[in-house]
Formats: sequence, C-alpha cells, structure tokens
Amino acid sequence: MTDAPRLDRGPRDPAAPLAGSHVLVGVGGGIAAYKAAELVRLLIKAGATVDVAMTARAQQFVGPMTFQALTRRPVFTDLFSLTDEATIGHIQLADRADLVVIAPATANLIARLAAGMADDAVTSTVLATRAPVLLAPAMNVNMWGHPLTAANVQRLVDVAKYNVVGPGDGFLACNWTGPGRLADPKDIVEAAAHVLSAQDLAGTRVLVTAGPTQEALDPARYLGNRSSGKMGVALAAAAQRRGATVTLILGPSAVEPPLGVRVVPVETAAQLGAALDAEVGGADVVIMAAAVADYRPMTVSPTKLKRGALGPEVQLELVANPDLLARLGARRTGGTPLLVGFAAETTDVIANARTKLAAKKCDLIVANDVGEPGAGFGVDTNHVTLVDAAGAHDVPAGPKAQVAHRILDRVVAVLAGKRTPAGSQRGKRVLR
Ligand code: CTP
Repeated sequence: MTDAPRLDRGPRDPAAPLAGSHVLVGVGGGIAAYKAAELVRLLIKAGATVDVAMTARAQQFVGPMTFQALTRRPVFTDLFSLTDEATIGHIQLADRADLVVIAPATANLIARLAAGMADDAVTSTVLATRAPVLLAPAMNVNMWGHPLTAANVQRLVDVAKYNVVGPGDGFLACNWTGPGRLADPKDIVEAAAHVLSAQDLAGTRVLVTAGPTQEALDPARYLGNRSSGKMGVALAAAAQRRGATVTLILGPSAVEPPLGVRVVPVETAAQLGAALDAEVGGADVVIMAAAVADYRPMTVSPTKLKRGALGPEVQLELVANPDLLARLGARRTGGTPLLVGFAAETTDVIANARTKLAAKKCDLIVANDVGEPGAGFGVDTNHVTLVDAAGAHDVPAGPKAQVAHRILDRVVAVLAGKRTPAGSQRGKRVLR
C-alpha cells in the first residue's frame, strides 16, 4: 500500500526533507500524548505544515486547543462532526499528507490500525492515506511485550509497510521500568526525515571515523587537538538518514552519536587504527573525518608526572603515528572501499588537498580551511571544497548537517559510477 508513497511530489533534499512537507500527526490516548505537543513543535520548526488528528481518548489527556495553538490549524477530533468534516474532511487530510506520524501509538490504537479499522478521526485518516506512516509506540511494558501487540506491530510493518520508531527504554508513567516509553521527540523527527528521504545509500555500508584522538602522557594528561567530532557525527547521521548501515569509530567527543548507528569508541590513534582494521572489511565507503594525532609521546608514564621532579623546562619526545588513511589507500584493491579523506589546512587549501588525494590514494578529499571563521573545528557550520580527480567543487557554507549531505551527494554519484545505484527502498524500517 505505501510502497511508492507520494513520490509523485518530487525528490526531497535529504538535508531538509521536512521543509515544505505536510505531516499529519495522529495522537493516541496515552499519557505520552503530552509529548506529541513537543513533536508537533519540532516538526513545524523543521519546516513542515502539521495537521493534528486526535482519538477521543487522546483528548482526555491533552486538549485539542494545545495543538490548534501550536499548528494554527483546526484539529481533527470527531469523524462525525459536521463542522470538522465540512472544513477538514479525513479524506482531504489523508490526501494532503506526505507523511503520517502516530504518536503516541498506544496498544489499542495499534490493534485498531492492524485490524484495518476506520472508526475515529485517526484510524479513518490513516486507512485512507497513501502517505508513509510512522508509528511511535508508547505503552506499559507488559502491553508492549504482549505477543498480540508484537503481532499487531509486525502486521503493520509487513502488510502495510509502516515504519516504527522506539519505544525507548526507561521509567514509565505506570511505574514500570522497561521498553514502552515514547521515543524522544527529536528521534521521532529524525525517523520522519528518514522516511521522507530518498534511500540512495540503501544497502551501502558506510564506515565513518570522527573526533580527535588523545595520546596519553601520563594518567592525567594527554596530547589532543581541537576536533569536536561534529562533522563526522553529522556525516554518520546523514548516511543513516539516506539508508546506509553506518558504523562510527568515535574518538573522545561530547557530541551525541545518532540513534541506530553502531559506535566503536576509541581514544588513541593506535586504537583508531585497530578499529579501522577490524571494521574496514565490510565497508563500501570509508569516510575519515577523524583528526588523527600525527605524533604520540614516546613514553607514557604510568604515574602522574610531578612538576617538582620535571624542573622548569621539559622536552617531550614524540614518535610518529602511522597515516591510517594512506594505509587504507595503499591496501585497497579494485577501488573498494570508496575512500573519503579530509584535509585540514590553513594555507594553499586546494593545492594541499590535491597532494593528499594523490598521496593517500583517495577518491575524494574534503578540504577545510580550518582558519576560516565558521569553518572547521568546534563550530556548528562548515565551508568545504570537494577535491577529486575531476576537479575542485566549492560547497556553500552552512550547518555541518547540510554540508554532510552535499559530501554524500558526491559519494552517491561516485558509487553510481562504480556500480548499479541502490534503489529507493521505503517502509519496513524499524529504528530502535
Ligand atoms: N589521517 C590519518 N592518519 C593520520 C593523520 C591523518 O588517517 N595519522 C587522515 C585524517 O583522518 C584525514 C586526512 O588523513 O582524513 C588528512 O589529515 P590532515 O590532518 O589534514 O593531514 P595530515 O596527513 O596529517 O598532513 P599535514 O598534517 O601535513 O597537513
């Protein structure tokens, strides 16, 4: 039913797939209904026009007025209301939607949807729509664990090709702890973005390295660098949104890794190298966004170095770390995996990037003038130039999430030149 939903409306930019979209949020009757208000706010912030439909029980938890105030649009509450039906009939809502999000999807609502019922404002709209549907379940842990609920969810995934995000694990309003919590609204928004994005990296295994490395001097001190990990984490999130299976090798970073991405935490360049060796075998694409330390202290003191014992001047002896990207480039055969390197430069950016492209045998170098304000280390924006054998291509400055998609556009194009492009695959996707 929803295999080819709304594709007639044209491809969406995966950097902002919700911009200009129509999303219908169906609110079920559970205590998590109040969190749907935050979800609606975030969807609007992401550029969507949001309509809300509520079950009768949902209205006992949150008033329609809340959603009307947030969306500035009438809220659909009663299938048989003459006024509702006159202004926003359920067929009209169903047709207009690019995406339907059910949050919270209660056990009862899931059961009614799985039975194909159309007995209220939410179920009737969902049954009538050709748009993809995203379920965000929330319920008591035992209701979630019940085989009938599991079977109903499976039926919605298998038969109707619905998507599911969550539920999360945690303390529930019913005093139980376990799975049943509504997924975080920001994760529901990311799942919505995923459902609306072309899956042009479906079937592709992407390995991303991100963040700095820390090379220990003693138990208290290390040599590090200014990398925050934001660009690499943005690349991992972007690749996942486009359907890739993503592994993220992440140095010490305060940035939260994306939901659904497998994270391999590392600290030192040596650990990063070992993690790369272990993971590279299964990868179609490797993106080296990590700022790998070029040198490490020759010796690591097992005890804290005391100021008194060191004296007024200290000479540190450093030893070179291997160039991990060059090692990958030298080892690969037949152009697999596709290799993307970064070049952090402060002078002669393009020329240095070209040198790195050849020296490290990469397919693509993302060149970064780390001295430019609003680009490079620590900040949320970036300005890069993509350098490959064909030439240099400037990517407009913007948020790192947006820049990440422009880098992946190039990766998709290079992959397409190497093999048959991965087809668009929608539905049947469970994000947990
Ligand atoms: N890199 C690596 N191993 C290292 C150093 C860097 O794999 N020991 C990778 C980085 O992840 C990045 C690319 O090589 O993708 C370029 O890193 P960069 O720091 O710009 O360049 P370097 O090779 O260290 O050269 P230089 O310091 O002379 O600019």
